[in-house]
Amino acid sequence: MATPAAEEIKNPHVEPLTQRNAWKALQAHSEKIRDLHLRTLFADDPKRGERMTLEAAGLFLDYSKNRITDETLRLLVELAQESGLKQRIEAMYRGDKINITEKRAVLHIALRAPKGASILVDGENVVPQVHEVLDKMTAFANRIRSGQWTGHSGKPIKNVVNIGIGGSDLGPVMAYEALRHFSDRDMTFRFVSNVDGTDFAEAVHDLDAEETLFIVSSKTFTTLETMTNAHTARTWLLEKIGGHQSSVAKHFVAVSTNAAEVSKFGIDTANMFGFWDWVGGRYSMDSAIGLSTMLAIGPENFQKMLEGFHEIDEHFRTAPFERNLPALLGLLTVWYINFFDAHTVAILPYDQYLKRFPAYLQQLTMESNGKHVTLDGNRVNYATCPIYWGEPGTNGQHSFYQLIHQGTRLIPCDFITFYRTVNNLGRHHDMLIANVFAQTEALAFGKTPEQVKAEGTPDWLVPHRVFEGNRPSNTILADELTPKMLGKLVALYEHSVFTQGTIWQVNSFDQWGVELGKALAQRIIPELESKTEPELKHDSSTNNLIRRYRKSKG
Ligand code: F6P
Repeated sequence: MATPAAEEIKNPHVEPLTQRNAWKALQAHSEKIRDLHLRTLFADDPKRGERMTLEAAGLFLDYSKNRITDETLRLLVELAQESGLKQRIEAMYRGDKINITEKRAVLHIALRAPKGASILVDGENVVPQVHEVLDKMTAFANRIRSGQWTGHSGKPIKNVVNIGIGGSDLGPVMAYEALRHFSDRDMTFRFVSNVDGTDFAEAVHDLDAEETLFIVSSKTFTTLETMTNAHTARTWLLEKIGGHQSSVAKHFVAVSTNAAEVSKFGIDTANMFGFWDWVGGRYSMDSAIGLSTMLAIGPENFQKMLEGFHEIDEHFRTAPFERNLPALLGLLTVWYINFFDAHTVAILPYDQYLKRFPAYLQQLTMESNGKHVTLDGNRVNYATCPIYWGEPGTNGQHSFYQLIHQGTRLIPCDFITFYRTVNNLGRHHDMLIANVFAQTEALAFGKTPEQVKAEGTPDWLVPHRVFEGNRPSNTILADELTPKMLGKLVALYEHSVFTQGTIWQVNSFDQWGVELGKALAQRIIPELESKTEPELKHDSSTNNLIRRYRKSKG
C-alpha cells in the first residue's frame, strides 16, 4: 500500500535496509573481522588511538576502542548515504512533516535557533514564536528569582515544584541535577512525576506552601499522572494557605501546548508558557518545558545551554559523516546492534552531576527508536533500538561492571567525562579520570591466561581471572560540565538517535506503544474503585489480580 508519507516527506527512495549494498557489504565485512581482537588492531597500528578520534564543537570522541577498521567506517558512512541520511537531515531542518504518523514537523532544532533564523512550518517562520516564549520565560524567571513575584501572602517564591512526567520531567530533572552548581542555592527545586502519591507527599512534606510555586508541565495537559498530581497540589496548596481559590494564580503556572485544558484547570493562560506540536516530549527540555531549569540557573545560563545545542545542530547538519560526531555515534550503535547482536548500550558518565543522564537518555533513545515497523508500515527484519541503561562512574564499577568485563554479552559503552570539575577536592578528580581510562583499557585489552599465570595464579583459578577483552567503548571528553556543554551533550545524543532511526527507517518521533497500557488503566481504575462488584471481562490473570486488590481494600 502506498503511504501518503513518501511524497509528503520528500524521503529519498531507499532500498529496504537489508537490501542496501552497504548493508550487504557490512555483513560480509563483519564476518571477516568478527574475531579480530582490539589487541591486534592496536598492535598493527601504533597511531590508532590518535587517529580514530574526532574533535568538534568542544567535544572529543575517542572511538579507537571499537571493533572496527577503516573499512568498517567507510562502509558505515556508505550505509548512511544509501539510507538517505543527508536528505533526512535536510527534511527535518526544513520543517517537513517527517513525523508521518502524527503528520507533524520535527523541529527541536528550532528551539535553539538564533533570533533572525528562519524555519518554516506550513509557510510560517516559527523562530520568532520561539523567541517570544523565551522572552516571556526570561521575564518570569527574573521576577521569581528577584523576589518580585510573590505568593498569595506576599512572600517571595523559594520553592519550585515541577509536576510532569516523561519528557515533561526527565529533561528538567536531569538538567537541574547536571547544573546544580549553576543554580540559585537559596531556592529549592523538586520534581513530581509518579502517580504514586508518595512522590508528591515526599516532594512537599517540608515545603512552606506560601513560598511554593508549582509548574504544571504537560504538552497535552491530559496526562493521567500529571493531572492527578496537579489536582493534588492544588488541594494541598489551598488547604495550607486557607482555601483562597484566587491564590492559585500566584502559585501555579503551566507549560503546555493545550491552552484550553490549562484554562479549564484554573490556571490563567497569561501564566502559561507555550510550545508546539512540532516539539516531541522527549525533545523538549530546551523549550518552555525547561522553565524550572531557567528558574534554577537563570536566563543567561539557559541561553548558553541553547547555544550549546545549536552548535551541535550546525555540526550535525554540515559535517561530513566521517567527521560528524552524532552520525558516527549513531552508526557505531547500528554496527553493534545489527552486526554483533548486541542488545544494550551502557551510558557511563563519570561526573556525579550527570547522575540522571542515563535515565534521560532512556526515554530519548527507546521511546524514539523502540519500533518494529518501518515508515511504510512493514515489519522490520532486523533489530532496532537497543536497551539503554547506565549509572554514573565509579559507582557502577562496584556493581554491574563485572558483567561487562566477564559476562557473555557484548555491551558497547559510552564513557563520558570532563577534564575539569568545579569540586576540585584533593586528588578526587585525578582518581575519577584514572578510573575512566583504566576501565576502557581493561575492557579493550583484558588480561590473557599467560599474563594471569605469570602473576603466580594457580592453574585452576586462571580461567576465572582471565579478561577476554575486546569489549568496545567510546570515550567522550570535554572541558567542563557547563550549561553550554550540557546542551551539546544532549544534542549529540538527539542526533545520534536520528541517525539510527534513519538507518532503521523507523519513525523516531511517535510513541504509539505507550497507548494500550494507558487505555487499559483507564478501564481498570473504575473497576478498582467501584462500590459494587464490577463485572470483569479481562483475562483470568488480570481478573484475579483485580479481585485480590479489591478484597485487600475491604
Ligand atoms: O506516555 C508517553 C508520553 O506521551 C511521552 O511521550 C511524554 O513525554 C509524556 O507522556 C508526557 O506527556 P505530556 O507532556 O503530554 O504530559
